[in-house]
Amino acid sequence: MNIKKYIVAICGASGSIYGIRLIKALIEQPCHLMVIISDGGLRVLEHETIFNGQSSFKDFLTLEGAVFHESSTLEVFTQHEACAAPASGSFIHNGMAIAPCSMKTLAAIASGMADNLITRSADVCLKEKRPLILLPRETPLNLIHLENMTRLCRAGATIMPPSPSFYTFPSTIEQLCDTVVARILDHFGFEHNLVQRWNWQEQ
Ligand SMILES: Cc1cc2nc3c(=O)[nH]c(=O)nc-3n(C[C@H](O)[C@H](O)[C@H](O)COP(=O)(O)O)c2cc1C
Repeated sequence: MNIKKYIVAICGASGSIYGIRLIKALIEQPCHLMVIISDGGLRVLEHETIFNGQSSFKDFLTLEGAVFHESSTLEVFTQHEACAAPASGSFIHNGMAIAPCSMKTLAAIASGMADNLITRSADVCLKEKRPLILLPRETPLNLIHLENMTRLCRAGATIMPPSPSFYTFPSTIEQLCDTVVARILDHFGFEHNLVQRWNWQEQ
């Protein structure tokens, strides 16, 4: 089987649940997943979830209800591991998502400042024309944020603000977040049944 490879980065913006739900959805099907957590991402993860950095990230995912597919593999990196595979264009993968993406990381990628494993991997995606999906989290947005997003969109990234939908009547925070995660998976070309798809006749 040709296992698909994905990169998921978690930055220090609020909404680490989006990254966790995405990782959970990917890892439950056959894939090779590379997770990169920035220093800021770790701080927010520890603040917003039960992750405390003491136990392994895999154990944390299990506590979050992830059921690993027997053919799935997971590698976890810090932003400092700049020599890891995603930093090289010779490493072929099926896409990278930064979920959530801080304004700082957004700005770094928009200006080509590839100074850590996340910004370098994103830079590589753009130069190699591989899918790069950013979930920028900030509100309100200033002109610098908006211009950085425009610049990244022009360079080939997909700007996907984590704006959940309500028409499927999600009843938990997880279900609400999955309406966004489902769109990332769609853009990755990853089959899933995470949310009910819109069909007016069935409403
Ligand atoms: C609890 C908390 C929430 C934060 N939320 C956001 C946010 O939503 N958006 C943002 O751009 N920065 C946010 N920040 C600030 C970033 O963490 C900070 O700019 C950091 O340097 C980002 O670095 P990184 O992109 O390398 O993770 C938050 C910080 C904390 C402590």
